Amino acid sequence: MGADPVRIGQAGLGAWGRNLVRNVDALADLTWICDASEERRASFGRQFPNAIVTDSFAEMLADPELEAVVIATPVPTHYALAKQALEAGKHVFVEKPPAMRGSEMEELVTLAESRGLVLMPGHLLLYHPGVRKLKELVDSGELGDVLCIYGNRQNLGTIRKDENALWSLGVHDLSVILYLVGEEPVEVHAHGNAFLTPGVEDVVFCFMRFPSGKIAHLHLSWLDPHKMRKMTVVGRDKMAVFDDMELERKITVYEKHPEEPEAGTYGEWRTRTGDIISPKIASDEPLKLEITHFLRLIREGGDGTEARDGLTVVRALDRLQQSLDGA
Ligand SMILES: NC(=O)c1ccc[n+]([C@@H]2O[C@H](COP(=O)([O-])OP(=O)(O)OC[C@H]3O[C@@H](n4cnc5c(N)ncnc54)[C@H](O)[C@@H]3O)[C@@H](O)[C@H]2O)c1
Repeated sequence: MGADPVRIGQAGLGAWGRNLVRNVDALADLTWICDASEERRASFGRQFPNAIVTDSFAEMLADPELEAVVIATPVPTHYALAKQALEAGKHVFVEKPPAMRGSEMEELVTLAESRGLVLMPGHLLLYHPGVRKLKELVDSGELGDVLCIYGNRQNLGTIRKDENALWSLGVHDLSVILYLVGEEPVEVHAHGNAFLTPGVEDVVFCFMRFPSGKIAHLHLSWLDPHKMRKMTVVGRDKMAVFDDMELERKITVYEKHPEEPEAGTYGEWRTRTGDIISPKIASDEPLKLEITHFLRLIREGGDGTEARDGLTVVRALDRLQQSLDGA
């Protein structure tokens, strides 16, 4: 990032943190690395010899030269660490979800705004060129009025024990749906079950209704034979699918729509089927685009959109969780 790279410290060097730190090191000045595990500190210390290694988040924050932190620790720690960093005057990139309660996220957003700091949640998919294309299709009106959206995020993968499928998997789809629709849901319902770890739902179905009448559904599950990362947008004129499991055909646009009943057809709707088109999608790494965006916000400033979008996502997760709990 130009002649004056942002001085960043990263906390959390686990399975996902290792991807983040590679990008931070390539795009900024990685001055500190922090992890609770001695083994990880030793191994990442060797990999990034110019960074100061610590197990103390507070020690890292005490460096007056440090401008920003990247937080990739387990979810239950996010809110407290992000708050501590903002209070220390550092810009914050925090992995998803940044907090586990709407009220906590509100506090972080207010804190960042009052101090003029960047607060960016790690909603990776919003930087995915395929999701950007989906947004373009929706906003340009090419699909016609959007009627419904549904997301599938399923497979027998790493089953987390401190986050359920809603918070771990659903956060991705929710961030995309709220970005596409641009509204907060007026009605939310979630149903699910914890088959493996008591109290941690591994299969969750969600329903949302928006003020405009659009509806959305999510199927989130660790117990499934299919590996699916898919979002389907049904418009009045065309329908589009974003499939992140596809290597080349990330977006498919179906020129399919219902046609008004013709005179003499007993009032039945018909389906018009046209071409199926797959636009070219850039293969840029979403994580690189995401970190580049964070650095740009620090250097050039922003209007707080990312933090407020993060708040709508946490608020929706919080409400869906209450529904899941039967509240
Ligand atoms: N954006 C994505 O697509 C994506 C994908 C996977 C994970 N994630 C998110 O990344 C985060 C980390 O997930 P992971 O799979 O890497 O977890 P992980 O358990 O593999 O790694 C977490 C690391 O944090 C360290 N740690 C824990 N508490 C700490 C503290 N207080 N200070 C410093 N270090 C601490 C641990 O020692 C560990 O090395 C989670 O929030 C997860 O939701 C995002």
